[in-house]
Amino acid sequence: MSNYSALIQDFILSLTIPKRPANLYDPIRYTLEHGGKRLRPELCLIACSALGGNPKQALYPAVSLELLHNFTLIHDDIMDQSDLRRGHETVYKKWGTPTAILAGDTLLGLSYDLMLKYPSIGAHKFYNLLTSTFIQICEGQQLDIDFEKRKVVPVEEYTDMIRLKTAVLLAACMKAGAIAANANAQIQNCFYDFGINIGLAFQIQDDLLDVYGQTEKLGKNIGNDIATNKKTYLLTKAMELLQGQELAALKHYFTKNDFNPKEKFEGVKQLYDSCQIKEVAEAQIKNYYDKAFQCLEGLALASNAMKELHEFVNRLIYRDF
Ligand code: IPE
Ligand code: IPE
Ligand code: MG
Ligand code: MG
Ligand code: MG
Repeated sequence: MSNYSALIQDFILSLTIPKRPANLYDPIRYTLEHGGKRLRPELCLIACSALGGNPKQALYPAVSLELLHNFTLIHDDIMDQSDLRRGHETVYKKWGTPTAILAGDTLLGLSYDLMLKYPSIGAHKFYNLLTSTFIQICEGQQLDIDFEKRKVVPVEEYTDMIRLKTAVLLAACMKAGAIAANANAQIQNCFYDFGINIGLAFQIQDDLLDVYGQTEKLGKNIGNDIATNKKTYLLTKAMELLQGQELAALKHYFTKNDFNPKEKFEGVKQLYDSCQIKEVAEAQIKNYYDKAFQCLEGLALASNAMKELHEFVNRLIYRDF
């Protein structure tokens, strides 16, 4: 466990989660105990440290943003009808949808509560960031749902959707780390833009893993995006790349709803393979990776800070879990 992970873990363990009503707080404890990668708070601490701050200064916003993330996952699993998360049954499967809605709402409340307790001057900057991020995630999630029903979604629209549902949160973590380190507005913005680009790369990798990953490693069921007609990077880009009969076949899989799920998954995967979508997506991930680091050019960060950021981003976007 890295130094940052240990700080985050201790901080999360120190949170007081009430006991009653048990059916509200048990799913919250269950969600937090299963952890996940905790990439967002780590990113926030790394950002603070890269600017000469003590990473501990960023713990409140880091964990507040992680609680926000956990809230979005509980609701996301209802919306996406996902049965497995972090290797365990999802909250809505285990406790039912009404409880999952409430547990998610409560986590959002806990996220605000933590930010409000942050003993920092200028704390309003963090509330503004938390609020705008939270609203943008909801906007992105609505677009994600709207797109399920659309036959064709251009890659540009897909990109805007993932910027909202995923990238703004990573960007907020970078910016919160910069604010905690007392960085100026220009640096905060560069860090934010860095986060947007790695967030886009992160979501494309997530889309890839839904097809090319393994459930045992990922802790989620693969093929869920295809089953629920999600407009992923793979699908939107394949629609651009394929032609003729192959394009018609791909569209057919997403317009008729009576396919056997396994048959649909295999059929779509074959079409993806025939336009080398994995390689195309990986090239796009690399593109965003490079763009992210371009945002930091000119900031003259210390070489060990740059090394730490590179190592972290490599772990984040080239993951198989
Ligand atoms: C899942 O995020 C949601 C996406 C934005 C793709 P993570 O893959 O970071 O989930 P955990 O927190 O590690 O479980
Ligand atoms: C995640 O998108 C976005 C949010 C949770 C806000 P996904 O729906 O792709 O995330 P997973 O794959 O379920 O983790
Ligand atoms: Mg989703
Ligand atoms: Mg989902
Ligand atoms: Mg996904």
